[in-house]
Amino acid sequence: MSNQTPQFPDAFQWGVATSAYQIEGAAFEDGRGASIWDTFTHTEGKIIDASTGDVACDHYHRYAEDVALLAGLNVDCYRFSVSWPRVQPDGEGAWNEAGFDFYSRLLDELARHGVGAHLTLYHWDLPQALQDKGGWLNRDTTAHFALYAAEVARRFGARVATIATHNEPWCTANLGHGIGQFAPGMADPAAALQVSHHLLLSHGLALQAMRATGTKARLGIVLNQWPATAATDSAADIAKARHEYARSVQWFMDPIFKGHYPELALEQIDRSAFTVLENDFTTIRQPLDFLGVNYYTRAFASAEEPPRSAPALLGVSDMQWETYPQGLTELLVGLHREYTLPPIYITENGMAVADEIVDGRVRDQPRTDYIRMHLAALDAAMREGVDVRGYFYWSLMDNFEWNSGYAKRFGLLHVDYATQARSLKDSALWYRDFITAQRAAA
Ligand code: NOJ
Repeated sequence: MSNQTPQFPDAFQWGVATSAYQIEGAAFEDGRGASIWDTFTHTEGKIIDASTGDVACDHYHRYAEDVALLAGLNVDCYRFSVSWPRVQPDGEGAWNEAGFDFYSRLLDELARHGVGAHLTLYHWDLPQALQDKGGWLNRDTTAHFALYAAEVARRFGARVATIATHNEPWCTANLGHGIGQFAPGMADPAAALQVSHHLLLSHGLALQAMRATGTKARLGIVLNQWPATAATDSAADIAKARHEYARSVQWFMDPIFKGHYPELALEQIDRSAFTVLENDFTTIRQPLDFLGVNYYTRAFASAEEPPRSAPALLGVSDMQWETYPQGLTELLVGLHREYTLPPIYITENGMAVADEIVDGRVRDQPRTDYIRMHLAALDAAMREGVDVRGYFYWSLMDNFEWNSGYAKRFGLLHVDYATQARSLKDSALWYRDFITAQRAAA
């Protein structure tokens, strides 16, 4: 990787990302229904600091200020999610106009600042009413999701650049149902498989339903991905890395792009543990207008007991995730070789740092370094022919980091949760100036 600042294509889009439950708060206002994350955070022992998203960053009331702040960073675009229970409290049946109004006002505000909108339909906040009927384990949820998707596309399709069906279905399936760290808190590997299949199916159904509305928004999905590196060149470690990659990246990519699950992954699991109907893959395999990739770190595969840990030559984040920028190049180039890809957006990339305001400043040099190194890695992938159209930093501001509560800070903006004051960290100023320089050189 060279130390020179890469120059990205003129049309490249620079953005920041958030999600509804992590920032909105107003959890019980204006007719919003409960979601599985309300239930989960209000259950003792689930969240490290016993916090909830009841108030979060109070973005529901401060969205205008937040849009002004993000516009001040000079970004082209903003990625956010719609809270399903805010617009359809029970996940089926009646729509909540007050909920749609909120997103309409948000879109107005973005348009007023000339910032493009990238909408995600499902960033983990399933209406609790659907969970009560089995949630993603119940095949009916996939049909409800498609109806919700079509309604959002009808209302907002002309005002957003893209609509993504799911954000990181791997997490919903495995962290939510396989090990129970995320809502709804189920720890059952067979359930995780069934849920992953229903999430994929709901993605396909939603794409069909949205396309039927004639929407001009480009449609896709956001997957969290990582390359798997073998710890040593032993046959056991190499096999472990291949298995790990099949169970994570290929598990979601193959059905969407090839119309089946990866054989290597199927060999490792009990196929009878989940139900796949005959035509499901035809539904899942819809053409995509874009693929969103969230990249944070790699997987380090060691078959030894105890397993070797990654050398982490560039350190780890406050999440204890290894900083491994070249993994982004490896991942994207690998995907490009294996699949016929649509244009890609890096829909998330970011670092948690234990930030503090000292003398009115947040000196978060590790975050700036992290972004800079990942942009160099992205540039390297693009030079290998990978078609990447944009980059979204995760996140615009510090927010509710799921089971880690408010303890982990990913933001470009520091949030003081006692006062809701937002302050620009050094990395925000760097990102703003970086984008300005890119434009000037274009
Ligand atoms: C993935 C998720 O999409 C987002 O919600 C989360 O906050 C970040 N990564 C950081 O963990």
